[in-house]
Amino acid sequence: MTLGFRIGFLLVLVLCFCKFTVSMNHSSNSRGDYTQFLLSNGVGRTPPMGWNSWNHFQCNIDEWTVKTTADALVSTGLAALGYKYVNIDDCWAEESRDWKGNLRPKSSTFPSGIKALADYVHARGLKLGIYSDAGYTTCSKKMPGSLGHEQQDASTFAQWGIDYLKYDNCYHDGSAPQDRYAKMSYALHKVGRPILYSICEWGEEYPAKWAGQYGNAWRTTGDIKDTWESVTSIADENNRWGRYAGPGRWNDPDMLEVGNGEMTLEEYRSHFSIWALMKAPLLIGCDVRSASRQTLRILGNKEVIDVNQDPLGVQGRKIRSKAGLEIWAGPLSRKRVVVVLLNRSGSRAPISVGWREVGLSPYSPVIVRDLWARSFVSMSKRYGLTAYVAPHACKIYILTPNS
Ligand code: GLA
Repeated sequence: MTLGFRIGFLLVLVLCFCKFTVSMNHSSNSRGDYTQFLLSNGVGRTPPMGWNSWNHFQCNIDEWTVKTTADALVSTGLAALGYKYVNIDDCWAEESRDWKGNLRPKSSTFPSGIKALADYVHARGLKLGIYSDAGYTTCSKKMPGSLGHEQQDASTFAQWGIDYLKYDNCYHDGSAPQDRYAKMSYALHKVGRPILYSICEWGEEYPAKWAGQYGNAWRTTGDIKDTWESVTSIADENNRWGRYAGPGRWNDPDMLEVGNGEMTLEEYRSHFSIWALMKAPLLIGCDVRSASRQTLRILGNKEVIDVNQDPLGVQGRKIRSKAGLEIWAGPLSRKRVVVVLLNRSGSRAPISVGWREVGLSPYSPVIVRDLWARSFVSMSKRYGLTAYVAPHACKIYILTPNS
């Protein structure tokens, strides 16, 4: 044997061995190929913004409601501020699939079909979202879920021009959510359309730890209610998972209740401020068509929205809490810091924050902007500040180092 032949033979042996071990690794992955891919849909680089039908309408939805809401998002100026996704939640489909196994829009409420609705919404510069479930039926039990039909439904959604999928967790087969949510993620990946994938697993199996490889957002809690107790307890729960969020992958403490009527304006302002700081999806949950001027002023505060949409994409956290008086803070781009002083107690109280505890030098002067008052508190403030905050109200500031 010549030396060249020997080297060639050895090389073939090494190559065969490598191929064998790779295939061993593959077959030892019990979850299959659909968990082994890169989520590369490019969407949700900042938290998604828009509207969703559930909090206000539950199952009482139809195409007219969706179309007029899209119109209202445009006419109120909310769309121009970033509220782009018009999301249909549960109850949009017939109870059974057609003879080919396809989901069918409910003919009594969506007679023109979902494709026509997507065209309508797209023509206004908006995007259309839809809802399904990683189980046999959705939570309302009024329509089928996508379990076992992942690829077929993903193709249907793509053909209709869907831009966002909220994928719920009711009535499944007991298998791991990691499997069920990965399957739909892979199906969406295969259809090729960039569809924002919102995992609605309610935080049960700690999705912050795994959902970022499959989806663009994941619910961290059960359903929100239009009460102060619900909003504050959800904020605390969502806060635990802050370090897992980032561009393209967000903790989702559920949709907004602002404007639904059961909380005070101060409570709604606090709800909106904390959601913005936590980089939560900002999905309006009220009837935009009849929203009051005050509701629109809250949802339309551009400076608070900018906190949420900041390109740095770091979730703000609770950094101090005593007797219901809290400081929440987070870094923003250009070395700025956002601070929320939140009063969860029943009486008006002073809350103080020091620059050092929010990561700024106590000695360097800072520009302090109050985002609800829409005014500058100071153009050169050192050490920290104290503000009096009404019960269930908050202050939200941006601190900009002035050097
Ligand atoms: C679950 C979800 C809600 C909503 C309903 C619809 O409860 O968490 O956000 O989608 O289902 O039935």
